[in-house]
Amino acid sequence: MRLWDKGGATDADILAYTARDDHRLDQALLPYDILASKAHVRGLCRVGALEPVERDRIVEALDKLAADVDAGRFVIPDDCEDGHTAIEAVLVRELGDTGKRVHLGRSRNDQVLVATRLLLRDAVTDLADRCASGARAFVALAAAHEDTVLPGYTHLQRAVPQTLAHWALAFAEGFADAGRALLSARDLADKCPLGAAAGYGVNLPLDREGVAHELGFLQVDVNPLYSQTSRGHVEVLALTAVWSAMALARRLAWDLSLFSTSEFGFVTLPDAFTTGSSIMPNKRNPDVVELMRAACSVVQGALAELMSIVSLPSGYHRDLQLTKAPTLRALAEARATLSLVPKLAANLRFDEGRMAKAVTRDLLATDTAVELARAGLPFRDAYKRVAADLGSADEPAGGAALASVRARTSLGGSGNLGADRIEARVAELEEAVSRTARSAMSRGV
Ligand code: ARG
Repeated sequence: MRLWDKGGATDADILAYTARDDHRLDQALLPYDILASKAHVRGLCRVGALEPVERDRIVEALDKLAADVDAGRFVIPDDCEDGHTAIEAVLVRELGDTGKRVHLGRSRNDQVLVATRLLLRDAVTDLADRCASGARAFVALAAAHEDTVLPGYTHLQRAVPQTLAHWALAFAEGFADAGRALLSARDLADKCPLGAAAGYGVNLPLDREGVAHELGFLQVDVNPLYSQTSRGHVEVLALTAVWSAMALARRLAWDLSLFSTSEFGFVTLPDAFTTGSSIMPNKRNPDVVELMRAACSVVQGALAELMSIVSLPSGYHRDLQLTKAPTLRALAEARATLSLVPKLAANLRFDEGRMAKAVTRDLLATDTAVELARAGLPFRDAYKRVAADLGSADEPAGGAALASVRARTSLGGSGNLGADRIEARVAELEEAVSRTARSAMSRGV
């Protein structure tokens, strides 16, 4: 089924090549496409391009379709070119000629743009919420481990003592920032493209502002050509923010896969996060954190795909259809990965003895150099003096390790974590997420 069918000859292979798996991908966009279609017909009615009785019948049929989609009763048929075709086919089947009126003043190009932006708004807010939960879990982990020492590493070599709280708060602050980046990306997607049509507007006095308002958009895209060419670009901005959250999850996964080896022995992963080996009965493998690490590559790959596709001249091009799969793939991957973070953080079992033993006396060298310099010796001379007489790299520092971390009293250090400040940022993010969700609802979405 094709909206543009004018009765000419068609070739099944070519149709399959152009439609690809749109009918499957568009299923995710369908609720948003229906929502935007309702706003569109109401807008048409306000400018006298549709009779109130036609508007009401179309809106009613769209509501019924939305309920069917929601309940899993409506799946886009394989023979529909895309979701837009499926919606119009249902309306024509239910309402005859009235159904055919829905496409006045719009193109599938602004139709897919608006559905994508509505989906992105929700998906990105949801991911910001997941970042907030991850950040919260690390704030809680930090609160339980202010005096738990372990080595801080550079180049994967033991460097100076830190506390587990210090390590955990790095992730708390990171996830709070990633959440903010996601909400900024949401703001950039929060502009209504409807009325741009094929990129050049239409010869109707469309109520673009009213339609945007009904859909809860903050703004309207003004220039139709810019609006069209933003397809894929808005997705790039969103996935860039998604990437920042996923890169942090990747770092977490890296740390945990190292810290859980027998060689480090710092942490035991929750049972549910490990799997067995089919051949080696002794193995418990950290497959989940390894997949969390690779999940970032899925997003990064999707981003590369999008950036490459949007390299086009002005106007709509069918290339843009291929922005959908990477976008949806990346969002699904991020959702699955980020939702595991709080559960993972809350169920890690740390071996405090092993971590303390790894803080050996040589790790106090920097502290000693700073102390000597503070007492008057030029730092470079202090550095050399300490280098000539390093503490043992085998003997644990014992109580001196705790003294060392407590002495790191400038803001953010292990002795002055600034946990309250980081927690305040997490609370700010939580508040922004719920404000965002509320404001969308209060505008009737
Ligand atoms: N399924 C198409 C897409 O995702 C809809 C737009 C088709 N527009 C066109 N002018 N052929 O891009």
